[in-house]
Amino acid sequence: MPTLLRLDASANTSSSLTRALADRFVDEWRALRPDDRLIRRDVGATPPPALSEAFLAAAFEKGERSADQHAVLKLSDELIGELEAADVIVIATPMYNYGMPAALKAWFDQVIRINKTFSFDLARGDRPLEPILNGKTLAVLTSSGEFGFAPGGLNESAGHLVPHIRTCAKYLGADHIRHVGIEYQEFGDARHRASKEAAFAAIPDLVAELSSRAPDDDRAEPAFAS
Ligand SMILES: Cc1cc2nc3c(=O)[nH]c(=O)nc-3n(C[C@H](O)[C@H](O)[C@H](O)COP(=O)(O)O)c2cc1C
Repeated sequence: MPTLLRLDASANTSSSLTRALADRFVDEWRALRPDDRLIRRDVGATPPPALSEAFLAAAFEKGERSADQHAVLKLSDELIGELEAADVIVIATPMYNYGMPAALKAWFDQVIRINKTFSFDLARGDRPLEPILNGKTLAVLTSSGEFGFAPGGLNESAGHLVPHIRTCAKYLGADHIRHVGIEYQEFGDARHRASKEAAFAAIPDLVAELSSRAPDDDRAEPAFAS
């Protein structure tokens, strides 16, 4: 079933640029593929908890899990279920302190889990981890106050947001990744306005490209169920 998973990571729920970019993405997607299912996970508004010792013990439990361990993993199971269901993942995230917001990192920590989204085998040599999921597409929609974080840019060495997401994306099963970003927000000048306009203008082509890769619509589910 073609399913879109939209993740919002901004703590700003009223005037967020990345939420507006994701709104535009979803509107465009609906226009092209009105029957696809949408799952929304707002980690900015409701951040997943940071990992605890109890979580680690439960996740790496080799024997039968206790009822308490199942309870500790409940949210992780739910988030992984949403990820497994997704054909296309949209991550809308601001840059906070040159990387991803802690809430988004907490989501990655909850979903990148042994024997769920990756396997570990020392017989593989120096690269013992392998992703379990595959075939997904990832759209990363970002905004930053400063600028020039891409390769060759003024602040390239401080740009840890998109590279970190790209590195982790293979454990989401994402093998096709696209990025659209707004910059210069803190300057509030013509460069910011141009960057914003260019990012919003890029969304229709991005959606056209990604939707052409989505699986065929062959089911009778209600449109945009959530
Ligand atoms: C807590 C916090 C940390 C930030 N850290 C950075 C940063 O390290 N680099 C940067 O370029 N912008 C930084 N910004 C600016 C945001 O990335 C920028 O305002 C962005 O447009 C916010 O996206 P949003 O409107 O979707 O929330 C930060 C903003 C906040 C609130």
